[in-house]
Amino acid sequence: MDSKILRPKHRASPVSDDLRLASYPPPYPDGWYRLMSSKSLRRGQVRYLECLGRALVVWRSEDADDVHAMRAFCPHLGANLGHGRVRKDRIECPFHAWQFSGDGRVACIPYSDNVPSRIVTESFPVEEVYGQIFLYHRGGGIRQQASDEVPYPVPRVREVDDGSFTFRGHHDGGRVRMHIIEIVENAADFAHFASTHGRMIIPWTQIPIPGVELEYTSSLEFDDDRPWTMRAQVRTVPKVFGRRLERAKGNGVVTYSGAGSILNFRLTIPGQREVALYQTHLPIAPLEQQVDFHWFANPGIPRLLVWYIVGNWISQWRKDVRIWENKVYAEPPVLCRDDGPVGCARRWYRQFFPDWQPARKPYAASAETDTVDRSRVAWPVSSPDAGGGAKEYDGADSPSVSAGETG
Ligand code: FES
Ligand SMILES: [Fe+2]
Repeated sequence: MDSKILRPKHRASPVSDDLRLASYPPPYPDGWYRLMSSKSLRRGQVRYLECLGRALVVWRSEDADDVHAMRAFCPHLGANLGHGRVRKDRIECPFHAWQFSGDGRVACIPYSDNVPSRIVTESFPVEEVYGQIFLYHRGGGIRQQASDEVPYPVPRVREVDDGSFTFRGHHDGGRVRMHIIEIVENAADFAHFASTHGRMIIPWTQIPIPGVELEYTSSLEFDDDRPWTMRAQVRTVPKVFGRRLERAKGNGVVTYSGAGSILNFRLTIPGQREVALYQTHLPIAPLEQQVDFHWFANPGIPRLLVWYIVGNWISQWRKDVRIWENKVYAEPPVLCRDDGPVGCARRWYRQFFPDWQPARKPYAASAETDTVDRSRVAWPVSSPDAGGGAKEYDGADSPSVSAGETG
C-alpha cells in the first residue's frame, strides 16, 4: 500500500519564519535521520541532498550494497560530487576526476601521484534498516567521520527482524513547515489531546464522525538504561453520544529515539491486532520537515484494518500540523497544574542539543498571577469521565522521571 490520500494543500504560514525561528532551539539536533528509501539508491547510483544544514553526496558502491555519505563539494576546487559517478566503491568528481573513498580520503588523482594523504573530507555514519537509509548527524559544528562511534543504533522492531511482521505500506507525509522539536512536545502536552484530537475523524480525512468523541489517558516514561529514548503511551476510548465504548478502546505506545527524528509506534486495537509504524522527520530547512510513515504488521491482518489503524493516526497528526506550522516556541512556558510533563520532556531533549543554552532559565518563577507552583505537577487530569486518579511527579531536574500508567 502506497498511500497518498487526501493531503491538504500546502499553505504558507502567515507568521514569518524569522519570527518563529528566533524562538526555537537549534534546528538540527543530534541523532539518526532517514535520508531516503534504499530502492531510490541502486548499486552505482549517486545522489545530491540538502538537509540538516548540509550539502551531502550519498552513493552506493558498484560492487556491493554499501552506502556512503560525505560532504558534497569537492575539496579540490569545489565541484559538486553529486554530479560525479561511482567507481567501484569510490565517488569520482565530475571536474578533474579525483576519486574519494567513503571515509572522505582522496583515493586517486588520475594525473598525479602526489595524492594529499592528510586531506579528509567530512563523512558520516550510515545505516540501512528495513529498506531505509539513515545518517547520523551531529550538530554544534563537530566534524564527523563515517567511522565515528554513535551513541545508539537505528531502532529496530523485533517482529520485523524475526519475520512475523512484514512491510505493509508507506505514506509520504510531505514537507511540513514546523520545527522538529514540536513532535516531541506533542507527547508531553497531555492537555492538547482532548482539545485538538477529541473528535473521531474518518481515517485519512479531516471529516469528523458525528457524535463520536475520543477520551485520552496518557503517560510518559524515560529510560535510564537507554537515555536516548522517551516512551509515551496514549490510550483512547471512543464515546458515542456520551457513552463510553470500552470494547473499542485503542492503545498507542510511541518510542522516541532522539529528538523527533525517529518515532516507533506500536498501535493496538481490541483483539490484540498490532501495527508497528515508523514516523521519521528529516529537516530540509530549520522550519521544514520531510515526514514519512512506514508500517509493518502480521501478514494475517486484513488490509482494511491496517488502513484504518494507520489512517486514524495520520489524520490526527494532521490536526497538529495546522498548529505547528503557525506557532512559536514558548520559553519559558507558562504551564498550569494539569498540563502534563512538558518540562520533563524539555529537560530530556536537551541532550540532543549539546551547545544550546536556552535564552532564559526554564521555569523561572514569575510574579505574574498566572504562574503556578511547578514543584509538584499532577497528570493526567482526573476527570469524572476518565474515572482515573491523577498521579503526581516530583518536578525535580532529573531527566528520568517516570509517569506510571493510569486508567
Ligand atoms: S574539483 Fe573535484 S577533482 Fe577538481
Ligand atoms: Fe497531537
